Amino acid sequence: MSTPTTLTLLRPDDWHLHVRDGAALSAVVPHTARQFGRAVIMPNLRPPVTTAAQAMAYRQRILDAVPAELLAQGRRFEPLMTLYLTDNLAPDEIRRAKEAGVVAVKLYPSGATTNSEAGVTALRKTYATLEAIQREGLRLLVHGEVTDAAVDVFDREAVFIETQLEPLRRDFPELKIVFEHITTREAAQYVADAGPWTAATITAHHLLYNRNALFKGGIRPHYYCLPVLKREVHRQALVAAAISGSPKFFLGTDSAPHAAQLKEHASGCAGCYTALTAVELYAEAFDEAGALDRLEGFASLHGPAFYDLPVNADRITLRKESWTVPQDLPFGEARLTPLRAGESLAWRLVEDSAGGV
Ligand code: DOR
Ligand code: ZN
Repeated sequence: MSTPTTLTLLRPDDWHLHVRDGAALSAVVPHTARQFGRAVIMPNLRPPVTTAAQAMAYRQRILDAVPAELLAQGRRFEPLMTLYLTDNLAPDEIRRAKEAGVVAVKLYPSGATTNSEAGVTALRKTYATLEAIQREGLRLLVHGEVTDAAVDVFDREAVFIETQLEPLRRDFPELKIVFEHITTREAAQYVADAGPWTAATITAHHLLYNRNALFKGGIRPHYYCLPVLKREVHRQALVAAAISGSPKFFLGTDSAPHAAQLKEHASGCAGCYTALTAVELYAEAFDEAGALDRLEGFASLHGPAFYDLPVNADRITLRKESWTVPQDLPFGEARLTPLRAGESLAWRLVEDSAGGV
């Protein structure tokens, strides 16, 4: 079958996104709002989002950053809010969060990644709150890496499955768990074999790159994220999961903006900025795998099903047309380097059913 030159999809959603706050938020929200109908917003601000009231105030700041031109075209963008799980998050706050429309709670093992210092030090400490999350039907979004310095950084996800996720699943059989940004064959297999309450998001960068990208011609900080890119066998397992058609796997960019000077640094921050070109990057990954016909399920259907939400009513169209990603973008007082800066992309978002891009 020859590759089509245009591709129309029900509008996708991003089930895992960082938009930060303040001037940074204003710089990045338009990129996501242009492509996606909704996005699940990560709560790892400083200080983290730990109350329903904070989540709702944050939601309003995000809505305020949606460009007026999009709204004038009849477009809407809906941020889906999350709370940050700490050792002390009260079960009562989960009830308030549910009432306020919060969709999920994020588990960061303390020290696992950016702004995770306030995260969970031992899962046992959170059991009363996890009970409430299960009871209220919120999702638990899991950053699945152990933080033990003795465990090799490339093995931290696989060890997390055995030592943390399996006991968690056993103790909370009906908890709706999203294993976020999976990066290994082991994680893809775990999710595929698990029951219906376990799903996973996969980023575009983990579908497109293996760990060689971090070192090609010199150290490449803009490819550094957590969980870190893995070997080629793992990338291939992620592609197989994404194109499998299984409703357990869906789109979550983990687009994580950091000022360029903080990534190009002796101790560079983790996070790839993909929101500008997210759908195009996923299209490239699915195209390379000969599975463009599976993109709509992954990007637009499986996520809403897991979150018990309707699919978006409008559509987007991509055209096979080479274009060059900008070198950098404004980011408050700083600059932001998108993934693939200065390089070409094969697909381009050209229009949507509301009449504009
Ligand atoms: O690479 C990452 N960046 N991984 C995460 O888990 C957090 C994120 C961020 O907030 O920058
Ligand atoms: Zn993330």
